[in-house]
Amino acid sequence: MARARRPLIAGNWKMNGLASDSLALVKELAGGLKQAGWTDRELLVCPPATLVRTVADAVKGSGLLVGGQNCHAKASGAHTGDISAEMLKDAGAACVIVGHSERRSDCGETDAVVRAKAEAAWRAGLLPIVCIGETLAEREAGKTLAVLETQLKGSVPDGATAARLVVAYEPVWAIGTGKTPTVAEVAAAHAHIRKVLGGLTAEAAGVRLLYGGSVKGSNAAELLAAGDVDGALVGGASLNAAEFLAIAKAA
Ligand code: 13P
Repeated sequence: MARARRPLIAGNWKMNGLASDSLALVKELAGGLKQAGWTDRELLVCPPATLVRTVADAVKGSGLLVGGQNCHAKASGAHTGDISAEMLKDAGAACVIVGHSERRSDCGETDAVVRAKAEAAWRAGLLPIVCIGETLAEREAGKTLAVLETQLKGSVPDGATAARLVVAYEPVWAIGTGKTPTVAEVAAAHAHIRKVLGGLTAEAAGVRLLYGGSVKGSNAAELLAAGDVDGALVGGASLNAAEFLAIAKAA
């Protein structure tokens, strides 16, 4: 049976945040969450790894979830500078973003690597948010849906369930550019993602699909109202409490 899909508004802080400003930000978010009293949607912040524990400790009991931005596929070992899913869990994370386009391009992460990281998240008891999305050249060549299908099939491990998987659709050309696809384009991409997921899990109807790429307070309502959109993965606007709360309000 399909589970109800509770909207998820996730903030990806990327490589931003020192302790003092981050604590002020999450204090404001926790206050906003308390005031709004939302129980019908989830709010998640993904600070840089250095701040996961600090932020998790600071928001304990507030309902605000904390996640990592990346993890290594292995639980431990000789991987200098890397962080495992188990370490994120230990620091207080509940989720982890895997396969963000910036990691796919900056660090050469392939679908197979992303898949291994999603499996690592499961092993550690974290919810993976698997990111996929086409480049501008791929969109202009009319390959968007095919690219999403390939990435999804390569990046989602066997054994996915509605409770264990979130997929984020982030068109690469929409990230940090102020450009977004039309609502119809977002709906078409999400409908295709859900259809492809149907071949990967019996619970495709319950998997939450987030849209990401230049989401802000002023465009959140229309993007979040698109068919098959169950939340947002927010970059720049998640660094501002009022903007992030406005997006959460629109959910
Ligand atoms: P922006 O919201 O800054 O476009 O970033 C989106 C993103 O990459 C979230 O993961």
